[in-house]
Parts: sequence; C-alpha cells; structure tokens
Amino acid sequence: MKYAFVLGRVYTLSVAELVAVLEKPDVSLGLTGAPVKVLESSPEVMVIESEAPINAEKMQRKLGGIIKILEVVDVVKKREADSVNFALKHYFKPSVLKKQFFKEYKGKVQFGLSIYLLNMDLLKGPVRQPGKESDFGHSNNIFSEPKRLGMMIKKGLTETGASVRLVLPEFNSLALASVVVTKNLLLQKGAEICILAGNDVVYTAKTIAVQDFEDYGRRDYQRPARDEKQGMIPPKVAQIMINLANCKPNDTILDPFCGIGTLLQEGILLGYKMLGSDINKKAIKGSEQNLEWFRNRYKISPGKYHLETADAREIPKLLAAQKVCAVVSEGTLGPIYGSYPKQGEIEQNFKDLTSLYQDCLKEFANLLPSKGRIVMCIPAYKKTRETYEMLPSLDFIKPLGYNLVDIISPNLAKKMKFLKLTDRSTAIYDRKDQVVAREIVIFEKI
Ligand SMILES: C[S@@+](CC[C@H](N)C(=O)[O-])C[C@H]1O[C@@H](n2cnc3c(N)ncnc32)[C@H](O)[C@@H]1O
Repeated sequence: MKYAFVLGRVYTLSVAELVAVLEKPDVSLGLTGAPVKVLESSPEVMVIESEAPINAEKMQRKLGGIIKILEVVDVVKKREADSVNFALKHYFKPSVLKKQFFKEYKGKVQFGLSIYLLNMDLLKGPVRQPGKESDFGHSNNIFSEPKRLGMMIKKGLTETGASVRLVLPEFNSLALASVVVTKNLLLQKGAEICILAGNDVVYTAKTIAVQDFEDYGRRDYQRPARDEKQGMIPPKVAQIMINLANCKPNDTILDPFCGIGTLLQEGILLGYKMLGSDINKKAIKGSEQNLEWFRNRYKISPGKYHLETADAREIPKLLAAQKVCAVVSEGTLGPIYGSYPKQGEIEQNFKDLTSLYQDCLKEFANLLPSKGRIVMCIPAYKKTRETYEMLPSLDFIKPLGYNLVDIISPNLAKKMKFLKLTDRSTAIYDRKDQVVAREIVIFEKI
C-alpha cells in the first residue's frame, strides 16, 4: 500500500518526525517498525510504501508536522513535457471515481482537487508560447491545472446525471488548505482528489485524514493562562519534539523549563506521563491552570502529570530515584529580541547558555537511561532569510556522556537533497517575524 504525507511549512522537521513515528513499532497505528521505504519526496509531500494498512486518523492526530494523509490510488506514466491534465486525460472516468475515490453519499456530491508537486521545478513549467496551448496540454500557467482537471472531472460526472459541486484551491495556489477540506465536508460528502505530479509520473490519491486545525487553535489560544513575554512553543512543534524523543506509551518525560505547560499537555495527549518544572512560580501556576483545563477538555484521567517549582539544575535531585525516558524542553533561549542584536550580546548569550546547558546536562544524566534522549531548542539568531548565527560548538556534550543525534539519518538526507539541515545535522524552526529562531537538537546518553 502506498501513502502520501503532505508536509508542514517547516518540512525538514515534518520529515524527521514522520520517519521517527513510522519506524517505531505501533500496532494501533498499523506500524511494524520496519525501515521506512520512501518512494518519492519533495518539500511538499513524501510518498511511502507500507507493508500493512495504517490507521490514518490516529496517525494524523499524533503528527504535528503533517497536514494531510493521502492514500495513493494509482500511478500513471507521463512524458516530461506533458501537463498533468494531458497525462490524466483518459483516467478519471465516472466509474473509476465512484469506485476508487468517492465516499458513498446520497446528497449532492462535493469534491475538491489539489495538486502537490514532487518536483518543484514544475512550477517554472515548460518553455512554450505565451497564450497558446501546447501539444502536451499545457496552458499558460500551472495554477490553472486544478481548475481544468476539476472541470473535466465534473463534466464527466454531470453527464452521468450526478449532482456535483467542485471546490478549488484559491487563486495562485495548487492545493486546498486543510480548513477548506474540513469546512466543506469533502471527506464525508465526496472526496478530495489529489494529484502528485512528477516529471515522468503522476500519482492519483485521495485524502484520508486532515490535520484538525481547530483543535490545535483551541490547544494554543483557549487555554486560561498565556505568557506572551516568555513565549510559548506552538503545540504542533511540541508534538514533533516529543515524537523525536523515542519513548514508549506511558513512559515519563521531563520538561524542566515547562513555562505554562505546552509540552506537558501535548505529551499527555500523546500518551506519556509528564513531569514539569520551572524556576518561575507564576509559570508553574499557569501550567497548573492550563493542565486542569486541559484535563477536563480532553477527559484525561488523573495522575498523568506532576509539577514542581525548581531550577532545572536542581530538579534531578528533587525527583530522587524517579527515572524518566527523556527530557523534552524548549528550554530558555536567553533574551528575546525585536531586531538583530549586537555580536557581543550574541556571544555573551551563547556563553551564559552553554554554562547553563552544561550544568543541566550533567544533572539530567542521573535521570536518563542509556540511549535516553534530550530533545531541546537552543537559540539561532536569524541573520538573513536563510542564514543563522548558531551556538558555535556543541562539543561540551561529549565529556558529559552524550552524543549528538542526526535529526535525519545521513542516508535519507542524501536522498532528500531539498531538506534544510544545518552543518551539524540539526534543524531550525523559525517564524518570519522572529529574530531568535529555535535550533532543535537531539542529545543521546551514551
Ligand atoms: C521559553 S519559556 C518555555 C515556554 C514553554 N515551552 C511553553 O510553551 O509554555 C522558558 C522558561 O524557562 C524558565 N527558566 C529560565 N531559566 C530557568 C532555570 N534555570 N531553571 C528552570 N526554568 C528556567 C523560564 O521561567 C521560562 O518559563
């Protein structure tokens, strides 16, 4: 069986998380733990071959970095110069659509059409005369392809007497946003048909799960306590980090810089027990309020978390004999800036933080088992759109008994040249308006 995963904006992290989850055995998700077999990948989408059917809805809820999960229906050959429409001219017969794509539904059928690119060069399109359709079925603009294909499918269905409504991507976009798929009930009343377009092949696929954007919004903005000054990690990124920690259900994870508890709530939702601590009493009060709200909202049984007010360097002593599977934390990123700071300030911040991390890592080693992971964020100051000033060295972790883990294996990274990895094989999560981005690092106890 083939599945395609539509990647989030920070696609390197999406791929890292996806591979970590796919390669961990989990019967409830339909995963055997076999190495993931990647058939195709691009910054938009990753196609895999799976030995057994997956539980897509459950998997979707687990993955912070994945926007949609698609089931691949067919693979159709295409000449490099062919447009998607041309390649699929005879494919979407009403009988194929009804059998392979659409849900059985009594009322007016609603379907959407999205195109994802397996090769981003297709955006440039072939050389052709402006305004003229070429022999290979191209119009002027690749962005007209979903409409042309959608209309062709709609026409065929209407001719069979079916009542159909077509939902198309916004202007200058090739794919429907997940919110549009959900709001139009496409998966209940018809289908979202997805085309994965490559140079010499097109995959036809249908969406089988969509990220619940409303629930992520609730988990972020409806909590009683917020802390705009310290900043909060987005729930999706928290999920990604926890999924990179390599823990088993019911294991205990520690966030020693928990703030108002985003990682704690996401860890609980993913089935872990969470320990949270922070040096700031007010932050712990916020965590308490948020987790109480969260427990009621998501019907979480008691005893899934424990909170302490403590300096991260002291918390292992307070937890005494308690073992944790992993430490997952946003950590403190030092001062947050509105504009790029002076070089001297950056150097001082790195020095202070290295000293704090060193003390913490030394203590955390007492809590972690061998191979236990620390997944944390460290600051990366954004110099230009794509360049960052990063902590110059992570060599301090070695004498403390840790290795740095590649966020994506070198083998996979070699195949996926488009991934944005740092020179030390870590990845950066950033937002357009932020000067202090987060470098996500994984340390593993030797
Ligand atoms: C960026 S915030 C974490 C936000 C959290 N991830 C969330 O989403 O709410 C960093 C936190 O580290 C805490 N902190 C700073 N230095 C600390 C230390 N030495 N020990 C424990 N906590 C510390 C701060 O009080 C702050 O709440």
